[in-house]
Parts: sequence; structure tokens; C-alpha cells
Amino acid sequence: MSVLEEAQKIAKEFEISDECLNDCVDHFIWATEHGLRHHTDLGMPMIPTFVTKIPTGKEKGVFLASDLGGTNFRVCSVTLNGDSTYSLNQEKSSVPKELMVGSCKDFFDYLASQVEAFLRKHHGEHFVEDDGVSKAPFGDPFKMGFTFSFPVDQTSLNKGKLIRWTKGFDIKDAVGKDIVEEFQAALHSRKLPVHVAALVNDTVGTLMSRSYTKAESGRTLVGCIFGTGTNGAYSEKIKTIPKFDAAAHPEITDKIMVINTEWGSFDNRLNHIPNTRFDTALNERTPNPGYHMFEKRISGMFLGELLRLVLVELRDKGVLFKGLSATKKALDTEWSLDTSVPSRIDGDQSSDLSQTAKVVEDFLGYSSVPKEELEAIKLLAHAIGRRSATLSAVPLAGLILHTNALEKFEGEIDIGADGSVVEFYPNFEKMVREALRKTRLGTEGEKRVTIGLARDGSGVGAALCALVA
Ligand code: GLC
Repeated sequence: MSVLEEAQKIAKEFEISDECLNDCVDHFIWATEHGLRHHTDLGMPMIPTFVTKIPTGKEKGVFLASDLGGTNFRVCSVTLNGDSTYSLNQEKSSVPKELMVGSCKDFFDYLASQVEAFLRKHHGEHFVEDDGVSKAPFGDPFKMGFTFSFPVDQTSLNKGKLIRWTKGFDIKDAVGKDIVEEFQAALHSRKLPVHVAALVNDTVGTLMSRSYTKAESGRTLVGCIFGTGTNGAYSEKIKTIPKFDAAAHPEITDKIMVINTEWGSFDNRLNHIPNTRFDTALNERTPNPGYHMFEKRISGMFLGELLRLVLVELRDKGVLFKGLSATKKALDTEWSLDTSVPSRIDGDQSSDLSQTAKVVEDFLGYSSVPKEELEAIKLLAHAIGRRSATLSAVPLAGLILHTNALEKFEGEIDIGADGSVVEFYPNFEKMVREALRKTRLGTEGEKRVTIGLARDGSGVGAALCALVA
């Protein structure tokens, strides 16, 4: 077979049939309802977040927010103006790789050091130097919302134990610990005037901030992330969360509660989502094998590695990079390709595939690759990206159907989204919509869905949660 035929054969394995798509949506609805009833290990966690109010746009104040998402840590101060607008100062750092797999104490000390650097730069008025030790000279401590985008078993707005790491983190002695206590201790040991008032998943932050900025024009149903990882949050009446011990919280029984679905763990048993040998190989290389299996087919952490695994197979078969030698070791190095690689290849509009050739040369170190091979690579990148987008429609359709939003909402059904994949992967939203139309939503339902970027989701959303606290 020619390289193109080989590529077409593999691309087919990444296709999601309409039947499979709809089966996944049905199972997603089942998994949602099951997760609201039971605490499960392998199932979808459906975590109650203790956020019981959706913003109205009228919230006011200055708050700190910090955000540990994928590989970056951000600290910001957010001013909510009370009219759906806000302003924000922020500093970003990328978490050193060795700290992502080191000790809990070192890790939280690093986060605290970044908060300190931020405060010194932007809120110097809160410091007096006293023998070289920084102190808060006056006023109450800042309230901080901490966006921590990993599965946490929350027991109050600012208490929660880490269930497990995802997205390449593996700080073993942090699992099972209260994340806020650890962070607060590190902040205290630097004498910083900061009180961690809310622990917030990034999807919850996205839901909150999109609701704040969009309050005028209607309600937002889901806040979601398609970035390094993928996940979504929505609200549920407390009465319809059977596993939540409502009797222990009489003050909120009549309210709603935002649920962090952790949909990355949808169908961990792979009874419904398709599996290829590349997915199997990828899963074995992750620190959380067997968990977040849905995420491993969708999000930015994984798409580059999937492409690498496919290309390695074709090279080893002797059909790709025939007679060429590489100036780089990337093709044989695990996790060497990030999503910008399939993303730029899939987005190549040139007739001579010069962009693909450049990416292949820059990242893999192969030059003078024949056009037919470049076509094969492009086809494969597209197949991986398309599968990601098609599967991304599953939880969106699932939550719209589970909440009866088509009947309950008048007009538009709004979804706030954030993350590099939804923002930058070529035609991602278009492909998600194509898939939505093939579900029970149909063309009419899909037309009513608005998907809006909520860029400062985790900063503004965390500030809004700190305010509630
Ligand atoms: C992973 C995390 C989840 C987070 C998502 C997006 O799935 O487990 O908590 O929301 O990534 O960042």
C-alpha cells in the first residue's frame, strides 16, 4: 500500500460514526445521572462544588485569584465593577517540570512565591519591609479564589482533598491532602496577607465569569474547558443531587449547586468510546492509566502524542520518511509534540503543503519530505483533530438533554468555553457543531446553541467565588 492508503486506513480508525456518537450521548446522560447518585471511582465524579449562586453581573469588589490549570500558574487581581465589566492585572509563570512530579511542600512553596512576587509588583502598598521580612501593614487580607483544575473531593467552598492528578502532574504526597490547607500554609510561612476563600475548578470559574459578563443577555448553561485537559460544569437543583447530604446543609437545601462533572473521566471503561492501538499506547504512558480516558482522546495534552505514535508506526513500516534521516530525535521522544503540531498541520491551506513541510522540518527534523507523505501526515492530523471535536460534542449534547434545556430555555442555550484547543485548533467549533447536529439536538437545537469564549474564566470566575465566600 502507498503511504496515502496506509494513512487513510488509520484515519478511518479515528472516525466516529453517527451511531457511535449517539450511543455516547445516551451513555453520557446515564453517567451524569449515575454520578449524581453514587460516589464512584471509575465513573464520572460529578463533584458538588458548594457554589450555590450564579452571578448576576452586579457583583463588585477587588479580589485576588490564582490559577493552576495545565502547565501555567497565573496570579491576578480582579476588579469587578458591578455592571458585567471587570479589569484585571495578571502575571503568569510556567511551572518547572521537576516541581510537577516533586514534593507537595516544594510545589506549594513555588505557588506561594509567585503570589508574593505578584503582590510585591502590583500591591506594594500592602508591604512594609521589616528586617527583610514582608508584612501586611494594614487592612484585611485579600480574599483569594484559587482555581485548581484537578479532581478534588470538595467538602466546603474552601476545603477539598485531591482525588488524583491529571494532565501529567504526579506529586504523590499531595493526593488525599486538603489543597487549600497546603496552599494556605505555604502563604502563611511567607507571611502573605492572603486568605484562600474559595477552591474553584476552572470549569466552574468559566461558568461564573461567562454568567457575570453575559448576565444581560441570558443564562449560561455550561462552563467548559477544551485546553490541556477537558471538563465541564453546570448547575443542578440540590434536591436532584441524591448523593449530596442535603440534611447536613439545611441552609442551602432549596438552592442550586454547581457540579464539576470531571467529564474527562466519562466512560473510563471504554464501553462506548472507540479505542485504537494508539490510544492504548498513549494511556500506558500517562501517570493516570485507566482514568480520564475521554480526555485522552480530546484535549491538548494528548493530540500531539497521538500523532507522534501514528507517525512512528508508519515510519517503522517503512512507508513514511523513506530514505530520509532526521536532524532531531523528536519522533522517538515521548510527549515531544504539543497540540500546535497537529493544529498547524491541519490548518495548512497551501496547495504545496509548505506549512506542513515546515512544521515537519521544525519539529521532527525531516526535510525534503515528498508531497504524498506530507498529504498523509495532514490527513492523519485532521483525523485526530476531528475525532477530538466530534467527541467534544458528546458532553455538550448530553448536558443540554439531561437538563431539558431545549424545553426550559427560551431562545439561545449559552455555553462558555475556554482553552487552547477550542480557541486555536482550526475549525474546532465548526466540527463540534457538525457533530451536535447529528445528535438528538438536530439542526434546530444546534442553531440555538451559542458557544462563547470566556477568556479570563478562571481569574474572574475565581474572584466571583471568593466574593460569594
Ligand atoms: C482535567 C482536570 C479537570 C479540569 C480539566 C480542564 O480534566 O481533571 O479538573 O477542569 O482538566 O483543565
